Formats: sequence, structure tokens, C-alpha cells
Amino acid sequence: MNQLDKIVALCKRRGFVYQSAEIYGGLNGVYDFGPLGTLLKKNIREAWTQSIFTTQQPILFLEGSLLGAHAMWEASGHTQNFSDPLVDCTNCKRRFRADDIDLEKVCSVCGKKAWTDVRQFQLMFQTQVGAATDSSSIAYLRPETAQSIFVQFKNVMSTNRVKIPFGIAQTGKAFRNEITPKQFLFRMREFEQMEMEWFCKPDQVDEFFPLWVKARENFYTHLGIIKDKIMLREHGKGELSHYSARTTDIEYEFPFGWKELEGIADRGNFDLTQHSKHSGKDLAVYDDETKQSYIPHVVECSVGVDRLFLTLLCDAYTEDTIGGEERTVLKFSPKIAPIKAAFLPLIKKLSEPMSKIYKDIAAKGYMVEFDESGSVGKRYRRQDEIGTPLCFTYDFESVEDNCVTVRNRDTTKQERISIEKIEEYIQASLSQ
Ligand code: GAP
Repeated sequence: MNQLDKIVALCKRRGFVYQSAEIYGGLNGVYDFGPLGTLLKKNIREAWTQSIFTTQQPILFLEGSLLGAHAMWEASGHTQNFSDPLVDCTNCKRRFRADDIDLEKVCSVCGKKAWTDVRQFQLMFQTQVGAATDSSSIAYLRPETAQSIFVQFKNVMSTNRVKIPFGIAQTGKAFRNEITPKQFLFRMREFEQMEMEWFCKPDQVDEFFPLWVKARENFYTHLGIIKDKIMLREHGKGELSHYSARTTDIEYEFPFGWKELEGIADRGNFDLTQHSKHSGKDLAVYDDETKQSYIPHVVECSVGVDRLFLTLLCDAYTEDTIGGEERTVLKFSPKIAPIKAAFLPLIKKLSEPMSKIYKDIAAKGYMVEFDESGSVGKRYRRQDEIGTPLCFTYDFESVEDNCVTVRNRDTTKQERISIEKIEEYIQASLSQ
């Protein structure tokens, strides 16, 4: 098995990620997140939100709708431009993204060379809103969260005490009918984005663009991602999206190669200009200094929750040998680990006092687990596999000395600490 296959297997085995509707054969490119996956996603969102706050810039949050009016996607350019080149093999009927394959060669599935012409495939999911079925009822599931930020820009600005430059941030679902969803959570059909649109004066873009690239890069090192596995890559002119004047990707070295994790784009005033033209509403702002109106420019930072989830898994996944025994361990930063600590009585007989300690810590709001069944070695292995940084064990001596043993996930070293010091110990690990 390659590393990605091992990660997919671990995700299922331990309840991070399941294939959607698996008992019915699954829905390709769509996933359900299990108990640990849900916690990890929540931690990712919280870490991102925190990173936005700690930049100490004026940034407001928005929760836009998932369904978007046809007119909005027409204005944004998505109905015309948001497509991928598609090609079919007429022999085996498989579909491919034309830019993923070499059309001079035979089909990798059936070995025949029987390609259709390349045509553009619309990536937005179209639907009908209400009972009418004419063109006025066409709507789309949003393929990015950004557009609701642009169309609400004026409302946000006029109902809150902010001035240019400021940002609007949003986390939420996005949908794309990807031709070939692949590499597990890397390219999905239903996924989640975390986007921040920074509105500034045209001549401020050169100042803010590098500032945001740096802030976003710092976010990943702060999450504990290995520095050498992150790099910046500027887009060439030919690969820029229809809205972008400049884009820098933050790439990660996945097991399948260097790929985009986050994109930082100079969107100019493309979006606000388009929405202004199409809606007939003035989206310009007045500059008190120059006494002139202008359409703000936008620097966008956009990353997928699920793609970052996969990044963190790839980065944390480790196989090592401890005391002659092989183990798999997820070396998550304690900040994003789904479970912060596990409480394990050495044997079931000692469950009661350990359970009491566990409940005291859980009541203080820490995401912790209590596990009393199976050998303590097996329980350690499970906690290693789900990335729990600390295991506290209550043994026969604990009754006498009021201490527990704490085991470090990465080194497996153990030390004895007083029961009173448990919370302090967890806190210290979380602030690493
Ligand atoms: N608003 C700009 C925008 O949506 P994008 O490069 O298409 O730009 C931004 O997407 C980020 O969203 C990507 O860097 C990636 O992290 C995530 N993303 C995009 N498509 C995805 C997909 N099909 N599955 C998972 N994540 C995806």
C-alpha cells in the first residue's frame, strides 16, 4: 500500500472519514466525516478563525447561502468560464479531464484510442428553485464562498463600523461537479472552503498582497506542518483564473506530489465591477482624501478545510518502531489533535478513581477520552493512531502517591506527575 492508501484505511478504521452512502456503493467525490473527523474539522476551522483574528486587522465574518441566483453566477463569470475540458473514450465510455491525459496516447482503462472531441464541462451544480421551471428559477450550488462576500460587500460595510481597508471572511460548503474527483479529500465534489476577501484601495494591493502571503504561510508553520514541505509558487500568466491578475499558491508536498493547498489572488476590482454592472447597483466607495469614488480592489486568501485536513494527515502520518514493536502514529500538533488526552486505568478495577479525574478535566471543556477496555498497550496504540498527544494512566501506586503516569505520544517516554498537575500539563502541551 502506498502512503495515501494507508491514510485512507486509517481514516476509515478509526472513524475520521467514511465514503458517503457507502452501504449503497458510495457517491464518488463525496465523504462523510466520522466522530474524530468532525472534531478535527472543527479544530481546523477554529485555528483558521483564530489566525484571522490574530492578524489584528479589521475583519468581519459572514455566512452566505449555499444556493446562489443565476444572475449572480452570470455576473461573476462562472456560467461562462467555470468549466473544465472534458473528453470521453467512445470504447469504454470513461470520462477524463482532457488536461489530465495525453490524447496522442491510448485510453489508460481499455487500451484503445477512441477519443471524442474535447468540450467544456460546466462544473457548477445547477438546480431549480420553487415550483416554476422556467429560466428565472435556475439557481446553482455555490462553487466558491467568495461571491456571497462580494454581493454583500456594500451591506456589510454600511451596517458595520468599518472603513477600507478591511476584510470579510467566511467558512462554508462549496460544490463542484469535478470530472475526476481524486486523491481522497484533495479533489472532492462537495467540500468546504475558508476564504477571506481583503478590500483595499487599488494602490494598496502591492503592500497587502505580500503581507497576506506571509500571514498565510505562517499559519501553516504555526499548525506544526513541516517547513520543507511547504513552498510558494507564483502562477504563470497562462494559468491565471479568469478573475485574477496575480496568484501565489501555497503548495504542500503530498504523497502524490507538490500541489496547491491555498491560493492567494489579486482579484483586482473584477468582481465588484461585474456585480455593479449586472445588478445596476453602485458598489463604489467614497474616498474622503481624494474626494472621489472608486471600486475597491481585493486580495483573496482561499483554502479548503478538507484539503488542509488531508495535508495535516499526510504531514502527521508516521510509522516507527518502539522497543522492537512497529506502530502507526499521527503526530498532530496538540492544537489540532481531535482528542487532547486519554485517561486510562491500568486495569478495570481502577476505573472509578480514573473516571473521576477524567470527568473533572472534561467538565473544564477539554476534549478528552476515557478508555478502560483491553490491555493498556493496545489502548496506547489506538491513541497513537488517532494522534492523542498525552495518555494518563492510573495504576496501583496512584492510590498511594496520588500521582499518575503520563506518556508522550511522540517519544513514548513516561513520567510520573501529581494528579493536581494534570490540567497544567495538558495546558502546557496545547500551548507548544
Ligand atoms: N475563491 C477562489 C477559489 O475558489 P480555488 O483555487 O478554485 O479558488 C480555493 O479554490 C481552494 O479551495 C483550493 O486551494 C483548495 O484548497 C480548495 N478546493 C478547491 N477545489 C476543491 C475540491 N474540488 N476539493 C477540495 N478542495 C478544493
